[in-house]
Amino acid sequence: MLSWIERFVSSSVGRKALMALTGLMLIGFLIAHLAGNLSLFAGDGGTAFDAYAHAISSLPILPIAEVALALLFLGHIYLAVKTTRENRRARPQGYSVTGTHGEKSFASKTMFPTGVVILAFLIKHLWDFRLQKEAFEEAPYASVQQALSDPLTASVYMLGILALGIHLSHAFGSALQSLGANHPKYTPALRAIGKVLAVALTLGFISIPIYFWLGGSSS
Ligand code: HEM
Repeated sequence: MLSWIERFVSSSVGRKALMALTGLMLIGFLIAHLAGNLSLFAGDGGTAFDAYAHAISSLPILPIAEVALALLFLGHIYLAVKTTRENRRARPQGYSVTGTHGEKSFASKTMFPTGVVILAFLIKHLWDFRLQKEAFEEAPYASVQQALSDPLTASVYMLGILALGIHLSHAFGSALQSLGANHPKYTPALRAIGKVLAVALTLGFISIPIYFWLGGSSS
């Protein structure tokens, strides 16, 4: 069983497919995360967001979901580092899987650096809200308001979210290619949906630091 997994991960096609799958699952997390965070805009001094945060933190399944999420992030990063290393080592003609459009080579150039910026943002983000859990759980809305009304923190968030936007704008196309989708009609449609989703997630997330930087909702 293990050797089957090892062989799958060490083959370039298997690795890319796994990277695509973990990436798509992470996009699923981002959609849910943004949907929950939009309650910050309820304009009720934080009542809706506080209720949401408390509901999430009392879910019995939360520890398992958090471990699964951490494994998804770590798996995705591990596969990205391994793939980037091998791409660098390979000669240009080793790129045969990437197609003839030249898109993938642009994507592979930007995917790694934007991924590094997202990771740096994520470490800061988990530090702000996850590692200071007690303060956060006592007053979730006030914690977010306090963190994001600081211009430096808000700027770091905006930078991280912009990197995420660029990363996501290529992610869907890459994932479809890695999973071997090449339907003449549906694949371009799915790519277009992926781009719209990337823009929606970027605008949705970035509106949060902008909102609090500009003053947010006073309770
Ligand atoms: C301005 C936008 C964002 C806000 C206001 C925000 C807010 C939060 C808050 C309040 C938590 C703590 C939840 C808790 O412990 O109960 C959290 C956790 C988390 N956020 Fe964000 N987030 C934002 C953007 C992002 C982005 C762009 C990503 C991914 C790139 C992300 C990834 C995570 C992860 C992985 C966790 C840990 C989840 C857990 O362990 O339960 N967040 N976020």
